[in-house]
Amino acid sequence: MFMQVNNLKKSYKTGNIVTPVLDNVNLSLDNGEIGAILGPSGSGKSTLLNIIGGLDFCDHGSVIVDNTEVTKLSDKRLTEYRRKKIGFIFQFYNLIPHLTVGENIEVVSNISKHPLSTDEILKDVDMLDKKYRFPNELSGGEQQRTAIARAIVKNPSLLLCDEPTGALDFLTSREILKLLQKINRNFSTTILMITHNEAISSMAHRIYKVRSGKILENKINKNIIPAERIEW
Ligand SMILES: Nc1ncnc2c1ncn2[C@@H]1O[C@H](COP(=O)(O)OP(=O)(O)OP(=O)(O)O)[C@@H](O)[C@H]1O
Ligand SMILES: [Mg+2]
Repeated sequence: MFMQVNNLKKSYKTGNIVTPVLDNVNLSLDNGEIGAILGPSGSGKSTLLNIIGGLDFCDHGSVIVDNTEVTKLSDKRLTEYRRKKIGFIFQFYNLIPHLTVGENIEVVSNISKHPLSTDEILKDVDMLDKKYRFPNELSGGEQQRTAIARAIVKNPSLLLCDEPTGALDFLTSREILKLLQKINRNFSTTILMITHNEAISSMAHRIYKVRSGKILENKINKNIIPAERIEW
């Protein structure tokens, strides 16, 4: 397995109150697979993704990505892991407002060892003609395409997407999903994607349903649907 989450537990403590968020979560993905995490608001999806991506810590259990035990890494190694291996796509794009589209991508490619070409990636996400625009001059879908370009320019081995279409309309969402499927096919990038939407999970190889911090269901999808045929 390329990625493995074993018996993961996590609670948040605010004052004396302990809120359990992840309760013995197990999850795995093979190299080149797309995984979908489905579940209602507050069920622990983002917390899980953040721990896998080295942005948050667990209380118990382990995360292994590409033979590295992420949950054992020192701060310095964790930064290296995030920088080298992980592409992160957030629900609300998180672009730097005073940098152009091209510069937002170069912020990442400049610190990567073997980055892909910015212009090639912008062509892939159909944003090359807007390279010199600022984020506030873009539509939501264009901002998300830029954020995807930024996440993939370092050619990450694992692409983590937290509701990548959560803020977008149906047609724009479908374009974004097509793009993620294309990245998965062209670069064999392993993708783990959070979604509220059952229909979106039909493009994933593995589907995990989360409820109150537990995996309720874990299935292999034998009938993968091309993103352009997803309807909801
Ligand atoms: N930093 C924090 N401190 C305390 N509680 C937190 C913190 N972050 C998240 N939580 C709580 O943990 C639970 C899970 O949060 P999480 O963000 O993982 O949910 P989610 O499944 O991603 O929800 P959504 O679909 O709304 O994004 C929620 O009850 C939330 O209030
Ligand atoms: Mg969330």
